Amino acid sequence: MIQLLPSTNYPISIVLMLEVGEMPEEKFLNQTYRLETQEETLAHYEAWAETYDEEITENDYAQPKRCATALAQYSTSKEVDVLDIGCGSGLSGLALSDSGFKNIDGCDFSPAMLEKAKNTNVYRQLFLADINEELDIEAETYDAVSAVGVLAFAHIRTEALRQMLRVIKSKGLLVIGLNEHYWDGDSVGDKIRALSEEGDIELLFEEYGDHLPGADIGGWVAVLRKK
Ligand SMILES: C[S@@+](CC[C@H](N)C(=O)[O-])C[C@H]1O[C@@H](n2cnc3c(N)ncnc32)[C@H](O)[C@@H]1O
Repeated sequence: MIQLLPSTNYPISIVLMLEVGEMPEEKFLNQTYRLETQEETLAHYEAWAETYDEEITENDYAQPKRCATALAQYSTSKEVDVLDIGCGSGLSGLALSDSGFKNIDGCDFSPAMLEKAKNTNVYRQLFLADINEELDIEAETYDAVSAVGVLAFAHIRTEALRQMLRVIKSKGLLVIGLNEHYWDGDSVGDKIRALSEEGDIELLFEEYGDHLPGADIGGWVAVLRKK
C-alpha cells in the first residue's frame, strides 16, 4: 500500500508500507539449498519450472556454458551421442547445442521441467527418469553424459555417479558441474578421486569457477573419462 505523509523537509514524502502478507515471496533459488527429501525436491522443481529460467539467468548461471565448453574440449567429435541428465528446462542442452553438439538426449524426473525442455528444440528425445533409481538404459549407450547442477544432497546422490558411468561407452566422457557446497559437503570431489584411484575413470579436468555469480556462489566443473 502506498501512503502519502507530510514531511518537514519536503512538502510530501512517499512512504512505501508493506503490510504483513504483502512481503515479497521468497524466490525458489534459496529454497533449493534447504531441500531434504526426494519428494520435496520433485515438488520444488514442478513448482519452479515456469520461472526457473528467469530466476536462474538473472543470477548469471554460468555452469551450462562452462560444462559444455569443457566437454567440447575433450570430445573427439560433435556428432557423439550425449545424455543431459537432470536436463531441467533445457539450459544445459542449449549450451551443449551452442557448443556444436548435435545428438543430445535429455532426462529429468520433473514432467513440468521436461515440458519446458521440449520448447528449446535442441533435444533429440526427452524422457522421464529418476537417476537415484536404476536407469532403464542399456549399458554403454552414450558417448558422453552431462550432469549440470544436479548432484546435490536431495537431488541426485553421489552414488548415482556409478549409474551415469554405466550408460557411458568405454572411453566416453562424463562432465559434471556443481556448486561448491555439494562438491565439499557431499564429498563429490573425494568420490571422483576414489573412482579414479579404483581405476574406473581418469580425471581429465577439474576447475573451480563461477556457478551463480549473481548470487555469489562458486562451483566446480569436472570431466572424467571412463576407462
Ligand atoms: C538445478 S536444476 C538443473 C537443470 C539443468 N541441468 C540446468 O543446468 O539448468 C536440477 C534438475 O535436476 C532434476 N533432478 C533432481 N533430482 C533428480 C533425480 N533424482 N532424477 C532426475 N532428475 C532430478 C530436477 O528436476 C531439476 O530439473
